[in-house]
Amino acid sequence: MEKNLKRELLDKDRAYVWHPFTQMKDYANRDHVLIEKAEGLFLYDADGRRYYDTVSSWWCNLHGHGHPRIKAAIRDQLDAFDHVMFSGLTHAPGIELAEQLVRLTPEGLTRVFYSDNGSTAVEVALKMSFQYWQHTGRTEKTTFAYLDGSYHGDTLGAVSVGGVDRYHALFRPLLFHGHRLPAPDLRQARTAGADGEREVAARALAAVRELFEQKGDTIAGLIVEPMLQGAGGMIMTPSAYLQGVRELCSRYGVHLIADEVATGFGRTGVMFACEHAGVSPDILCLSKGLTAGVMPLAATLCREELYAAFYDDDAAKTFFHGHSFTGNPVACAVALASLRLFEEERVLERAQATIAALADALRGLARLPHVAHVRQLGLVAAFDLYLDAERRQPFPPERRIGAAMYEAGFEEGLILRPLGDTLYYWLPLCAKPDDVRDIAARTERALRRVLS
Ligand SMILES: Cc1ncc(COP(=O)(O)O)c(C=O)c1O
Repeated sequence: MEKNLKRELLDKDRAYVWHPFTQMKDYANRDHVLIEKAEGLFLYDADGRRYYDTVSSWWCNLHGHGHPRIKAAIRDQLDAFDHVMFSGLTHAPGIELAEQLVRLTPEGLTRVFYSDNGSTAVEVALKMSFQYWQHTGRTEKTTFAYLDGSYHGDTLGAVSVGGVDRYHALFRPLLFHGHRLPAPDLRQARTAGADGEREVAARALAAVRELFEQKGDTIAGLIVEPMLQGAGGMIMTPSAYLQGVRELCSRYGVHLIADEVATGFGRTGVMFACEHAGVSPDILCLSKGLTAGVMPLAATLCREELYAAFYDDDAAKTFFHGHSFTGNPVACAVALASLRLFEEERVLERAQATIAALADALRGLARLPHVAHVRQLGLVAAFDLYLDAERRQPFPPERRIGAAMYEAGFEEGLILRPLGDTLYYWLPLCAKPDDVRDIAARTERALRRVLS
């Protein structure tokens, strides 16, 4: 990009734009990276510098940027028609996508309710669950249970079931009351391997059981991020926990709401993270990868029993919820194109070699000083940085190690976006083993620079 144009844009960025999750004062004397092009696994800035998109553009992108089949789906749908309302009208992309989602998601989910982002997918789930109990005479079921460290979005309903104090505590006066449960964080295992997993799951499940025994009659649903709590710090959780909460939710009549906004569509090595545990939720939230990370769209799926409780001659039993862009046809067409790619290009099968290469690369990174708790689930990997990794002594916060790694990442051609002192990759499914090896080598250089 021409230098003057770049300067002009960045000045206007500073003059007019308020970026999300950003302390804008951090940018008082420096610029945001201005992206001019995105192709495959890479983003290019206005100076032509290339960066690996190791976080898949906020955990969204699946098949790489600018995939020709995705672009063609957008063009074709725009040639047919653009946005139309989805209440009182319907359209082929919305219908066909719903059919595919019911086919692909864990068994028992039969109905698809569209919205347009991850937070709204969660809002829909919470309201759907709440209203179900109102319709079925269990009007005392009005609260939700959620986990420590959980993140379900930034709208107030989603924040009410959020467990990351740094983001959520300030808003408590605005939120509805919920029950916060301990997270089955695998880092807390006292023994390695399967025994440690069982122990972590059992401890966290005991808290769920106790809560349900005492208050299950008043709880509408329990919301979880299956297998992997993302924004809370890339907390990986045992499959036995998911199986356990499934069993407890069924026993105590509490909806199990699986938020797969981040984990859905292959990121964890299987299509949906619930599959790792062979578990089917009552309500499932999807977004991000739903459109291969290209268009805003979300879907909340539920069991027929929930849908049936709203299906009535009584208009008051309508689910009064909707968004302007609910079921946007262009987004639905893109989602269908992405699902076709999964099948035709055997995307999940091919990703397995990359997942193995990632495991291998992590073994190398695990040997570096200051690195601990190296963990992986499919194409997601994370590790924590400590001043003294052996004693788990953290860096003093003022060293802002995460922020320093973010900067060092740019120098090494990587978009890294650490969560505090936790560094992670959230790789697109199109990443190849060689890419992973290159990303790990660049990360190692960035680590050495920041930590030496
Ligand atoms: C598990 C989970 N749920 C919900 C959301 C919210 O999605 P959105 O940012 O599209 O509102 C996120 C976003 O990161 C997420 O990770």
